[in-house]
Amino acid sequence: MSRVLVTGGAGFIGSHLVERLLDQGLSILVVDDLSTGRKEQVPVHPKVELVCSNVEQWLSSGTNEEFGEAYHLAAAVGVRKVVEDPFGTIINNVMETAGLLRYLAKSSTPTLLASTSEVYGVGHGRPFQETDDSVYGPTTVARWSYAHSKAVDEHLAFALEQELPSVVVRFFNTVGPRQRGDWGMVLPRFVQAALANAPIEVHGDGNQKRCFADVRDIVDSLPRLLRSPDARGLPVNLGHDESITILQLAELVRDVLNSESSIQVLPYTEVWGRGFQDLQERIPDLNRARNLVGLPPSRPLTETIQDLADCIRTEDSK
Ligand SMILES: NC(=O)c1ccc[n+]([C@@H]2O[C@H](COP(=O)([O-])OP(=O)(O)OC[C@H]3O[C@@H](n4cnc5c(N)ncnc54)[C@H](O)[C@@H]3O)[C@@H](O)[C@H]2O)c1
Repeated sequence: MSRVLVTGGAGFIGSHLVERLLDQGLSILVVDDLSTGRKEQVPVHPKVELVCSNVEQWLSSGTNEEFGEAYHLAAAVGVRKVVEDPFGTIINNVMETAGLLRYLAKSSTPTLLASTSEVYGVGHGRPFQETDDSVYGPTTVARWSYAHSKAVDEHLAFALEQELPSVVVRFFNTVGPRQRGDWGMVLPRFVQAALANAPIEVHGDGNQKRCFADVRDIVDSLPRLLRSPDARGLPVNLGHDESITILQLAELVRDVLNSESSIQVLPYTEVWGRGFQDLQERIPDLNRARNLVGLPPSRPLTETIQDLADCIRTEDSK
């Protein structure tokens, strides 16, 4: 196969994906502007090239390479980043994706587009199915800019259906080694606090339910979905479907890491200001993914917490 393109390959999910593709003997071009990713996360290997650039600049540098497959993971990610810079989030996630998809359509490159459970919006109290309606909060609430931008990305991919064989993966909370808490990601924030015996901050009332999937389980399914002819032109949920409340997650992290941290519950208004909206429950219906490619057995969350903690300890000691 010609080289595989991974945008955002220096990021959390992207770097694990690059390792899986290398295991398959593939050559890979990573395009990443290192805005939230890190150079050290890209494997140093003769079959991996890293271009440190944003997607738009790389495209305008005059590339004309045709790829065997493309995984588009580059995006502005993380609640903190989105709330702080909603304008930049929209421009990054929509304009750069439009340019990239148009480029890949010229050579009909099989493409996997990273989307998110956020596209479902405010939720309805049962597991999200790919055929559900999307219902968003008001446009005056900055956090919805991420959901809207990713929904537009999905529309762009589907609009190019005739030229671009694509699958859209809606990631639910994905966690594991290399994820950092800097942009508000909940599990690394909790683990970092627990390791320092500092208070673990739970935002909201703590009763909101989420499902956490280990990134190493998730990346196994990405090439299989992209190569599944039946997945073409479809959005597919990917994640774990067993839920835990955020308060229970904080307690679990503290227990697994034998930490002396206290747990502090902070209302959203105190953390994100007035008008912040969040979902009480975010659980995927995974039947479509199971029917298309099957799903590997999930690692226990306790193992993920332990491995993430080991990773943070190692990085902090450098
Ligand atoms: N981690 C999750 O739980 C989760 C959930 C839903 C969706 N996603 C989606 O999965 C993808 C990967 O997310 P992640 O968790 O690995 O986050 P991440 O921040 O670690 O990865 C994003 C990567 O893209 C790079 N990047 C951002 N804008 C870029 C641009 N314009 N050009 C080139 N590189 C750019 C960043 O430097 C980073 O390396 C994203 O598209 C995200 O929206 C992730």
